[in-house]
Amino acid sequence: MEITKICCIGAGYVGGPTMAVIAQKCPNIKVTVVDLNEQRIKDWNDPNTDNIPIYEPGLSEIVAEARGRNLFFSTEVEKAIDEAQVIFISVNTPTKTYGKGKGMAADLKYIELCARQIAKVAKQNKIVVEKSTLPVRTAEAIKSILDNTGNGVQFQILSNPEFLAEGTAVTDLLNPDRILIGGDTTTEGQEAINALVNVYANWVEKDKILTTNVWSSELSKLTANAFLAQRISSINAMSELCEKTGADVSEVAKAIGMDSRIGAKFLKASVGFGGSCFQKDILNLVYIAKSYGLNEVADYWEQVIIMNDHQKRRFSNKIVQTLYNTVADKKITFLGWAFKKDTNDTRESAAIYVADDLINEQAKISVYDPKVQRHKMLSDLDYLETRTKEENSNALTIFENPYESCKGAHAIAVLTEWDEFITYDWQKIYDSMRKPAFLFDGRNILNAKELEKIGFIYKGIGS
Ligand code: NAD
Ligand code: UGA
Repeated sequence: MEITKICCIGAGYVGGPTMAVIAQKCPNIKVTVVDLNEQRIKDWNDPNTDNIPIYEPGLSEIVAEARGRNLFFSTEVEKAIDEAQVIFISVNTPTKTYGKGKGMAADLKYIELCARQIAKVAKQNKIVVEKSTLPVRTAEAIKSILDNTGNGVQFQILSNPEFLAEGTAVTDLLNPDRILIGGDTTTEGQEAINALVNVYANWVEKDKILTTNVWSSELSKLTANAFLAQRISSINAMSELCEKTGADVSEVAKAIGMDSRIGAKFLKASVGFGGSCFQKDILNLVYIAKSYGLNEVADYWEQVIIMNDHQKRRFSNKIVQTLYNTVADKKITFLGWAFKKDTNDTRESAAIYVADDLINEQAKISVYDPKVQRHKMLSDLDYLETRTKEENSNALTIFENPYESCKGAHAIAVLTEWDEFITYDWQKIYDSMRKPAFLFDGRNILNAKELEKIGFIYKGIGS
């Protein structure tokens, strides 16, 4: 079967960039991205592509090229489902906040809603692709809903998890390490797999397109995120030991990373990993393991989260201890609020938790982030429900100019590794601060020796 029409449900951080790249690389395929969120679709259709709702380097150019040609953003979900041969489900799968599995399991209500809507609308056979990250064996539930509530048409369910990282989404999509497609071992299943393989083969080498059964594909995605997050918690655990022993975690990371079996990537000690997925996916993995009675497996992976929470708390504690055990009424400036550089995404950013801890100690937090908007920072804090909106708004001052944000501060904390922080005039910043001037580098991006020469009391992670 040749694919000429694709629909993607969910115009978020995955659906938007992934479909933009498919549309760019496959001009003969009409790609329609739909979402219930009208504002989000309106923003994707903004005539000025610099205003699209997701900031990713290179994305606005791709949208400018393909939008209106074969890439469309719409709120007409049913129409797009009806037209398409292939439907990607790319909706959010957050941690459940209620009922059984609260705080652990993935909330599949949005996925089920999509399945029911597809079943209702589809009048011809369709391939349904799980793009969202899902618990292993979700395809079974989707298939049951489709087969039992549909109009008698045939559905093939494929699992095609996404491995892009935010901030590098476009390059990750253009040059993926691999594309993973899981499907049924039946003839129809294999045909569906081949149809999707041919879409990706428009720009990805065939030997990088891996096909498996559905369950392996679903579980590989959770496993990949668990392994990646585990590396960060492992190096962060060593960072605490480094601080006690005089070892330097960057030197340790370099030394072990040169072992080709370990590899150099993903060994940067930090204030802790953030982002919408690592924590959610590991909690989900822990929940799945527990539900099969595999308590040792569950405990093993849960430790990755425990270590990450500890690392965030350790960072805020260190600030308080270093500032003579009190930060009450002291101005502490955060450089960065996003969970990593080159994204405007703040979900689960370490900055939120560090700010929350410090505001509990009655600190006054000032923030500068090149891409995150004020209302987003405040809503991140409000979401924790630690205090009222008014109290949060009084405790957090947001600046559009980094130099202004640092004026009169007792301390600066680097929470995101934005490149621009490295090039600042640090002498000028030092001169404008209260003395002694403290700098807590939660990302180890600044030059400790130069800053100490200026007069800063510099504290990195793990040294
Ligand atoms: P997101 O919240 O940015 O986007 C999801 C979108 O789906 C939202 O705009 C929401 O309005 C829409 N939606 C929800 N239910 C809908 C429905 N029934 N009909 C139409 N639209 C609906 O989420 P995201 O970051 O794009 O993540 C989506 C999935 O991809 C998750 O499972 C996530 O784990 C996975 N994932 C995310 C990343 C990442 O970097 N963010 C990377 C790989 C995988
Ligand atoms: C991560 C994975 O890298 C993607 O492969 C996956 O598709 C995605 O999750 C997902 O499923 O959502 P993402 O969270 O966007 O991508 O970004 P990462 O680059 O993985 O960074 C996650 C967090 O870890 C950030 O806060 C980052 O600063 C931190 N990190 C990363 C470190 O602290 N140290 C490192 O060495 C690397």
